[in-house]
Amino acid sequence: MKIAVIGSGYVGLVAGACFADTGNQVICVDVDRKKVDALKRAEIPIYEPGLETLVRRGTAQGRIHFTTSTAEATAASEIIFMAVGTPTLPNGDSDLSFLKAASEEVARSMNGYKIIVNKSTVPIGSHRVVADWMALHTKHLFDVVSNPEFLKEGSALDDFLKPDRVVIGTTKEEVYNKMADLYAPFVRQGNPILWMDPVSAEITKYACNSFLAARISFMNELALLCEKVGGDIEHIRRGMSTDTRIGKHFLYAGLGYGGSCFPKDIKAMLATARQQGVPLEVVAAAEAANVRQKQHMVTKVQNHFGRNLEGHTFALWGLAFKPNTDDMREAPSITIVQGLTEAKAKIRAFDPVAMENAKSILGNKITYCNSAFEALEGADALLLITEWNEFRHPDFLQVKRTLKNPVIFDGRNTFNPREIRELGFTYYGIGRKV
Ligand SMILES: NC(=O)c1ccc[n+]([C@@H]2O[C@H](COP(=O)([O-])OP(=O)(O)OC[C@H]3O[C@@H](n4cnc5c(N)ncnc54)[C@H](O)[C@@H]3O)[C@@H](O)[C@H]2O)c1
Repeated sequence: MKIAVIGSGYVGLVAGACFADTGNQVICVDVDRKKVDALKRAEIPIYEPGLETLVRRGTAQGRIHFTTSTAEATAASEIIFMAVGTPTLPNGDSDLSFLKAASEEVARSMNGYKIIVNKSTVPIGSHRVVADWMALHTKHLFDVVSNPEFLKEGSALDDFLKPDRVVIGTTKEEVYNKMADLYAPFVRQGNPILWMDPVSAEITKYACNSFLAARISFMNELALLCEKVGGDIEHIRRGMSTDTRIGKHFLYAGLGYGGSCFPKDIKAMLATARQQGVPLEVVAAAEAANVRQKQHMVTKVQNHFGRNLEGHTFALWGLAFKPNTDDMREAPSITIVQGLTEAKAKIRAFDPVAMENAKSILGNKITYCNSAFEALEGADALLLITEWNEFRHPDFLQVKRTLKNPVIFDGRNTFNPREIRELGFTYYGIGRKV
């Protein structure tokens, strides 16, 4: 099939590369000329394991192309995926200006019937909104399909190539059939392609993210209780996750969820709920608990070192919102850096891949180090922020020798508290028995 993908970020580029890899002819569009120029040289502007190989293969075989011209991509394609960003506005609503600009440009460039696919995560009812925007700029027929994306950064290729399910929201059977045909290579092991109406598809995406966020916040609140009454959240997690009704995913206490999706999607869902007068109290509580949790590490540090942290330096291992990505959007590290620097602490940080993105957000508030051990030099304590694999088994004796004080704040419950304490460290996890 001939496919255009408008927006070549984390979602658009992965979708485009995977569709090209299954034999489709794909044109990826972006307004960012530097990004497009880099992609034309098969340089990947984001960190996503495996993506470079796929893009290089698609490029070499002539199945994937990159352009800044939506018009060129639209004219050449039968299915057009919208994968532009939908960030949060200050009032909690979604900023649909990128989607509007892209939709109107697609509409103006149409040369016949097209299937328009909302791949971006969009507020409920957006399939109609996009159709209305487009109808003002084209005489050609089109259908708008809701096809939310569930990939996770860090394992995006696997998620896209072997999805748990594909959700297709359309009322038209022929449109569903075309979309199902496109996705058929990815569900050969029998995972379902779910056909539903567009509103249900839009809600499904928000429902999944809100539910997963609620699980995380539930565990984070339990962890706070553990810290008061003396339980260990890791034991409790195992006790819960072995219950097949509950399952094992998204039950890890930590520093609060971040990233480009959960915080934004939850705000968008709550905004819709407010407009409709339907109180989604569980979702609202999950968000409030997350805001509290992101501050928790700073409180712990201050409980140990005192409220005024002037004269103290802290080593941060990890800045990205989770391992295997360079994405810094809404990362807990941002809140932690802000809290510590407001208390006048100095920070030395290292992240294996997110340093450049971190610099654009944190600027000169912190010192950027070339390695995990360099970050420890002259620091009063180590704060583990992102559980990259390379941080899991450091040489703790060297850690102890390098730090000024043998104190570890483990924001991801990555280390074994007993072992660490036996080595002479003061260890703080999240919700772990002291
Ligand atoms: N990142 C994820 O893990 C993830 C997962 C599922 C769904 N989503 C959703 O997918 C959408 C895209 O997310 P992302 O993380 O890929 O965003 P991103 O910011 O990485 O990429 C968006 C891209 O769109 C480009 N763009 C903006 N306006 C454009 C226009 N008019 N024409 C062409 N390109 C344009 C931007 O330059 C940018 O490169 C969002 O709605 C997001 O919520 C993201």
